[in-house]
Order: sequence, then C-alpha cells, then structure tokens
Amino acid sequence: MPPSFHVLFTVNLFFPFLSCPNTLSSETGMDLDTWVSLHVQRHKERSVVLAQKMSVTSPDWKLRLAESNRTQVIVSQDGSGDFMTINEAVTNIPLHNTRRVVIRINSGVYREKVNIPKTMRFVTLVGNASDPPTITGNDTASTNSAPHVVGRRGEQAAALRISGTKAAFYSCSFYGSQDTLYDHKGLHYFNNCLIQGSVDFIFGYGTSLYENCYLNSVTKKVASVTAQKRSDSSIASGFSFKNCTVTGSGSIYLGRAWGDYSRVVFSYTFLDKIVLPQGWSDWGKTSRDRKVYYGEYKCSGGGANVTGRVTWARVLTDEEAMPFIGTYYIDGDSWLINPSL
Ligand SMILES: *[C@@H]1O[C@H](CO)[C@@H](O)[C@H](O)[C@H]1NC(C)=O
Ligand SMILES: *[C@@H]1O[C@H](CO)[C@@H](O)[C@H](O)[C@H]1NC(C)=O
Ligand SMILES: *[C@@H]1O[C@H](CO)[C@@H](O)[C@H](O)[C@H]1NC(C)=O
Ligand SMILES: *[C@@H]1O[C@H](CO)[C@@H](O)[C@H](O)[C@H]1NC(C)=O
Ligand SMILES: *[C@@H]1O[C@H](CO)[C@@H](O)[C@H](O)[C@H]1NC(C)=O
Repeated sequence: MPPSFHVLFTVNLFFPFLSCPNTLSSETGMDLDTWVSLHVQRHKERSVVLAQKMSVTSPDWKLRLAESNRTQVIVSQDGSGDFMTINEAVTNIPLHNTRRVVIRINSGVYREKVNIPKTMRFVTLVGNASDPPTITGNDTASTNSAPHVVGRRGEQAAALRISGTKAAFYSCSFYGSQDTLYDHKGLHYFNNCLIQGSVDFIFGYGTSLYENCYLNSVTKKVASVTAQKRSDSSIASGFSFKNCTVTGSGSIYLGRAWGDYSRVVFSYTFLDKIVLPQGWSDWGKTSRDRKVYYGEYKCSGGGANVTGRVTWARVLTDEEAMPFIGTYYIDGDSWLINPSL
C-alpha cells in the first residue's frame, strides 16, 4: 500500500517539529481531494519505477548495511503498538544508529514536537495511506498549530525543519502560513507532497528537488512562495521544482532573494495566474539582481507568461535546465532508495 504519509530519512537529520493537520481550506478542498487521489495513483506508479531503478544503482555501503538489518516498531495511541508517542519510539533508537528503523505510525492526531537528532540515521516514519496520521506540534514564535490566519507579525509556524542531509519525503502534507517548511540545509527530496503557506513558505539553504508537488498559497495579499538563502556563488544550494503545481490565493512571487546568490528553478510546472507578471523579487536589494539565479523552464498556466518578468530572471535553455531536472541534482543515486515498504 502506498503511504500517503511517509517520511523517509536516511542520514544526519534534525527536525524540531512536523505538523500535518488534515484540515484543508474550504476554497481549495475539492481541488486537493482530486489532487490527492491523482497523486496516490502516481505514487504507486513511481514506486515501481524506483524499485526498478534500485537494482541498477549503488547506495553507499552504510546504507546497504542498514537496509539489510531493518527493524520495525509500531506507534499506536490505543496502546496496541510498541509505543504510544512518536517521541518515545525515537528515544528508543540508538543515537548513533546503524540499522534501518521503520516507525509505523497508526492513524491519529499526535500532539507532539518530534525531534530526530542529527546523529540518528536511517530512520523512517511511515503512516497509513487511507487514514494518514497527523503530527502537530504546539509551539511557535507566538501562537501555535500552524495558524491559517495570515498577514500578522510573529506568526511564523514552521511545520518542519530539516537540517540533516539525505532526507526524503513522499506523500507528506505540510500545513502552515508564514515559513511552513524550513528547508534548512542538506540534500533533500520531496515527492508528491503538499506544501501550504503564505509568506516565504519554503525557505532556507537546502539543496532540494521537489518533484510532483503541490504548492498552495493561502496569502491574502502579496507574498513569495520561496525564500532561498544561498549566500555565496561557490555553494551548491538551491531549490528545484519539477512537475509541480503552484496555485492558491493572493498574488505571489515565485521567489525572493534571502541570500545574495539565491537560486530557484521551476521546470515543467503549472503556474496559476496568481503568479505576478514580474515573477521574482530581489527583496529590495538591487545589488542582488545580477547575483541571483532564478530560472523557469517549460512551465505552463496563466502565471507562466514571462513577458512581464524582471529583467534578471532567466528562461532556461535545455542545457541550462539540465542540471536541475533529475535526482542527480541532489546526488540521489547514492542515497535515494525505494520508498515502498
Ligand atoms: C542488526 O542490528 C542489531 C542491533 O543493533 C545488532 O545487534 C546485530 O548485530 C545487527 N545484525 C547485523 C547482521 O548487522
Ligand atoms: C489503515 O486505515 C484504514 C482506515 O482507517 C484501516 O481500515 C486499516 O486497517 C488501516 N491499516 C493499517 C495497516 O493499520
Ligand atoms: C498547546 O499547549 C498549551 C500549553 O503549552 C495547552 O494549554 C494547549 O491545550 C495546547 N494545545 C493543543 C491543541 O494541544
Ligand atoms: C508530471 O505530473 C503529471 C500529473 O500532474 C503526471 O501525469 C506526469 O507523469 C508527471 N510527469 C513526470 C515526468 O513525472
Ligand atoms: C503574455 O503577456 C503579454 C503582456 O501582458 C501579452 O501581450 C501576451 O499576449 C501574453 N502571451 C500569452 C501567450 O498569453
């Protein structure tokens, strides 16, 4: 069965909390339902492709070893599993873990802030596809539970912070408003995920590929979907969105430059008309205009017309797009493994 909530982590990670309330805003509910069923199907197909790919790639030996000695624990709030909270299950894993530990999380709303320490590798969280568990922390800068009200100061509510490298997320939904997903640093892969937010809702320094994801804006005014923080031209950091869908409310920039060399590419992506004609923002610092790397490649939709784009945005050629549009962008062949369990 394809997990509709499935977090697969491999090496070095740390995340204070992952919040996945199941609530959808009423205006987008219908679309999302259709989207979810479509993507569950697609995920099945993709799992097959990945399984085939697995046989010809060679993940590093520590990962192979971890895989060969896999173990599993069950978290269930009704006491029928090994643990009743996710944190208890995590605490039970050695800090310098060497085997794959699959934490199966039974359906339910888990009100806890899950923290997987950096040294704790080879940990997988997996939920039930037909009734995915919700993990919701109860802690933010000011208020909590990833508020859906937007436009007020101090309401940042990161649903997930991922600071470790080589982490993959399949069919997860991240709900928040400002700063939903802190893609802090490291190599990350997101497939078939929903990320919802208002201001800078995918932000950080990560080197990440987002494939087949749905980015839903809930801003009421003007906001940016991404705030990528690459700070130096020599750093291999940037967000690549491939075959995604960008829609929702308000008026949005695809990205604004948090770092001087901010790098974001959208390819084969449906951009709804809420995308502002200028497309990208330098955050008021014109010195960044010649440093940032903001590219679009074969996008479609009412927001993909590049006629009104800022002069420093790029329409990528095939050659320019190439480095961003495969899992090689995140060295995937060495660590991405078949997500079906
Ligand atoms: C599997 O992991 C357990 C627990 O860490 C360890 O005791 C055992 O030796 C490992 N087995 C193999 C074949 O690595
Ligand atoms: C998954 O959830 C469905 C619907 O609640 C339930 O019928 C099924 O038994 C669950 N599967 C597992 C493996 O827990
Ligand atoms: C959040 O935490 C506060 C105390 O810190 C508690 O009073 C409140 O009930 C919690 N809310 C939820 C939804 O868990
Ligand atoms: C892109 O996504 C669509 C559905 O949104 C899917 O039909 C198609 O196979 C995907 N293409 C690739 C190359 O993954
Ligand atoms: C793109 O936008 C320009 C300026 O608004 C407009 O003239 C042009 O027709 C648009 N192109 C398409 C394909 O919609």
